[in-house]
Amino acid sequence: GAPVTQSLKKVESGQQLIVAWRSLPVFIVNRTPAQLAALPKQDPRLVDPKSNGSSADQQPKYAQNETRSIKPEWLVMIGICTHLGCVPNYVGEMKPEPFDPDWQGGYYCPCHHSRYDMAGRVYQGVPAPKNMQIPPYHYVDDTTVQIG
Ligand code: FES
Repeated sequence: GAPVTQSLKKVESGQQLIVAWRSLPVFIVNRTPAQLAALPKQDPRLVDPKSNGSSADQQPKYAQNETRSIKPEWLVMIGICTHLGCVPNYVGEMKPEPFDPDWQGGYYCPCHHSRYDMAGRVYQGVPAPKNMQIPPYHYVDDTTVQIG
């Protein structure tokens, strides 16, 4: 599939944009300072907090960091649950959920209740086995990202 170019100029803090790339949904989120601050606090509850268990496909070199991204605020991720391939819902608010009062928000898969944090890292105790995939991408300029 051809690369997809997307301007980030109009994506507000806390907002998610979904673009199609190779027929896959790619989630692009302008993460808030609160969402970024919550990331390291989730580590003890995650299956693979450092994404060490991820293949190069799952986790390109430029995403081998706490935020799993090139620029800390911008999450760029393939929005496919690693369990059976449903598209998880973005739950951006940091409010407690009935199924997990300590959950800090992120992604919730409606199919079998897997949860991920705001870097697509999967929580323990859910069916999804690994973190969601970071696609190949780079910045064309300060406010334009190219996927693929
Ligand atoms: Fe997401 Fe099963 S497909 S939890």
